Amino acid sequence: MSRFLLTRTLPEHATDAALRADVLHGLTRTPKTLPPKWFYDARGSELFEEITTLPEYYPTRAEREILLARAPEIAAATGARTLIELGSGSSEKTRLLLDSLPELASYVPVDVSESALRGAATSLLADRPGLEVHAIVADFTGGMVLPGTPGPRLVAFLGGTIGNLLPAERAAFLASVRGLLAPGDALLLGTDLVKDESVLVRAYDDAAGVTAAFNKNVLTVINRELGADFAPDAFDHVALWDAENEWIEMRLRARSALTVKIPELDLVVHFAPGEEVRTEVSAKFRQDRVRSELAAARMELTHWWTDEAGRFALTHATAV
Ligand code: SAH
Ligand code: TRP
Repeated sequence: MSRFLLTRTLPEHATDAALRADVLHGLTRTPKTLPPKWFYDARGSELFEEITTLPEYYPTRAEREILLARAPEIAAATGARTLIELGSGSSEKTRLLLDSLPELASYVPVDVSESALRGAATSLLADRPGLEVHAIVADFTGGMVLPGTPGPRLVAFLGGTIGNLLPAERAAFLASVRGLLAPGDALLLGTDLVKDESVLVRAYDDAAGVTAAFNKNVLTVINRELGADFAPDAFDHVALWDAENEWIEMRLRARSALTVKIPELDLVVHFAPGEEVRTEVSAKFRQDRVRSELAAARMELTHWWTDEAGRFALTHATAV
């Protein structure tokens, strides 16, 4: 009996069109930017998994600690029959949730990375043959179409990925998540917390250079998909703390003056020496901000759990 289904919400060429539009828009404006979802081709997903095991990258371990310690409370708060997970990646930590939800019938992982979804489903189904896995290849910021699985539903958004959205994108995203929740459903949201600057910067600029490789991978994606001639090593990886916005900002800095051709866009992009492209933000939160952003999207913070060291939080929220 096959318990695995994979749906592409967007046809292949729509992803192409979105990449073209994002690259054209981002590299012709000042300052230059590139949106983070293009990090995650198969290689990018692998590099992210490697990041999660780095000694400096604490968020994965902190969130796993919370899931382990709080699994019974989370289960008691939801009784979910369907678990929808946005940006599920390898679904590695999700196993802890699956194990603690006895009523669970369906798991719906949503990710832009088809390779990550296939890998996660294969390894999950090997251990849990009774679970129905309906994977969705989709952009979670772009109005997902989800299958009609049984409620109550728990929508999980782990890893602190919400911090990779800018404030206005976050507000729109939370409003769309609210639209998924019926009475009795809930959101489980992972957020990294504001802490000492040096700890934060190291988590995004590790000694082994894995995060640098991950950041530069976006250039490799553009080379492959749009025929560009970026030399990834002509750029330095930069991670800095923006204390006003309370986010880590990732950039790629041109080591010298550069000209890059992007034939598929009929575009030539010039970089001044030291010019930077912003590739990603990773916002860090305090409880007040999580509460107020949820409230603005008509959700109520119902539980707040942190790891022992207070580095990371899991929030349980319901619709109001
Ligand atoms: N939840 C996992 C992975 C976090 S990394 C964990 O906690 O370890 C972020 C994940 O979100 C990646 O798998 C990436 O492919 C996915 N992702 C990033 N932007 C996305 C978008 N706009 N729509 C859907 N998935 C996205
Ligand atoms: N959601 C992860 C985070 O913000 C993604 C991430 C970790 C990341 N390290 C990165 C994104 C480096 C870009 C570059 O922590």
